[in-house]
Amino acid sequence: MSRPFDICVIGGGGHVGLPLAVAFADQGLRVVIYDINQAVLDLINTGKMPFLEEGCEPILRNVIGKTLFTGSSPDLVAQAKYVVVLIGTPVDEHLNPTFGQMHKCLEDIQQYLDNDQIVVLRSTVAPGVTRKVDTLLKKRHPGIRVTFCPERILEGKAMEELQNLPQIVSGFDRDAVVEVSDLFRKLTPEIIVISPDEAELAKLFTNSWRYIQFATANQFYMIAEELGLDFYNIYDAMTRNYPRTKGFPRPGFAAGPCLFKDTMQLSASSEYRFFLGHSAMLVNEGLPDFIIKLAKRERDLAGLTVGILGMAFKAESDDGRESLSFKLRKLLQIEADEVLCTDEYIQRPDFLPVEEVIRRSDILFIGAPHHRYRHLSFGDKPVMDVWNMLKKQGLDSSISGEAGL
Ligand SMILES: NC(=O)c1ccc[n+]([C@@H]2O[C@H](COP(=O)([O-])OP(=O)(O)OC[C@H]3O[C@@H](n4cnc5c(N)ncnc54)[C@H](O)[C@@H]3O)[C@@H](O)[C@H]2O)c1
Repeated sequence: MSRPFDICVIGGGGHVGLPLAVAFADQGLRVVIYDINQAVLDLINTGKMPFLEEGCEPILRNVIGKTLFTGSSPDLVAQAKYVVVLIGTPVDEHLNPTFGQMHKCLEDIQQYLDNDQIVVLRSTVAPGVTRKVDTLLKKRHPGIRVTFCPERILEGKAMEELQNLPQIVSGFDRDAVVEVSDLFRKLTPEIIVISPDEAELAKLFTNSWRYIQFATANQFYMIAEELGLDFYNIYDAMTRNYPRTKGFPRPGFAAGPCLFKDTMQLSASSEYRFFLGHSAMLVNEGLPDFIIKLAKRERDLAGLTVGILGMAFKAESDDGRESLSFKLRKLLQIEADEVLCTDEYIQRPDFLPVEEVIRRSDILFIGAPHHRYRHLSFGDKPVMDVWNMLKKQGLDSSISGEAGL
């Protein structure tokens, strides 16, 4: 069957859907984005990125209207051979994975699918979901083939990493796996084929492992600071020219849209026996409270104006989703008289310019270590800087503020 598009990316207006759609379109494939967020699509159609993603906008400008198109009507999925699903997969208020959003999306598009299409599930999903999707879609289209190819890029580095990271490909049908491998080979040379059950765990293990690594650094930070010792002196001694601690992360807010929820997805599907994951959650989510406790050692926050610099979940990002800076703000609102917030990349009516926040605050907290903050003058105001953004010269250059995905 001849179709106007090669690929339809469902959720292609999102943080990982859009770079993927742009990357495929840049390879000359005909790509259509199907997304329910019309405002985002309107922006994309003008060649503008709705969020920061290094190097993506110039390519978007080149491909939009040529090999990349957008729309908010579900019948678009009928027009492409490969249907890539990249909608959000959040956990609910009880930290359980939710299948509702995915289920509704699949129900909505079912009538437009047919037996000759290949579905490429790319959202991060709980174990067993690929099989569930396969079963659901096959009820109406017995010939349809479902694959699972997890997205593993670091937000902000998608355009580079889509070309450099190996792509995991899995599926229930051998020919579909071959076809989808060939599709991804247009982006990256290395393809790793495993089973869907294994691929689901490969993705969740990776994110949970990162989350646990950050928790280890954060726990050590808390132990050292609790004892009145300077963690970064210890960190330097541990890691300098010592191969066994190479890659040991620095402390900082481990947050963002993926690490926490994927650790919880894994936990929920291991009958809540993922003790390491839960411990990591307690440590990472407890860091804002700990920093406030450190600040209160120096002075009572009652009656003070406090400022938070950096509300994104990591440095040089405009993504505030699941950022621990917002948790810090909530906690500080209980302790202090007033809490002022600023961010280099997120515009909100309740945020102020950084200079004003510094001028009006009695004490400052670094929420996300955006590069520019390193060059600001804070006078003699105390700065709570878990990232060590300002303190140790020797470590400054390596601060990445990357404790998130
Ligand atoms: N953000 C990351 O760095 C990252 C990295 C790897 C994997 N992932 C995974 O990728 C998935 C998507 O994450 P994201 O950060 O891009 O989310 P996102 O919220 O930025 O994007 C999701 C997009 O899907 C659209 N959408 C929602 N329901 C839809 C529907 N029924 N039909 C069409 N469009 C719909 C939304 O409008 C949105 O534009 C998640 O499973 C996430 O865990 C994210």
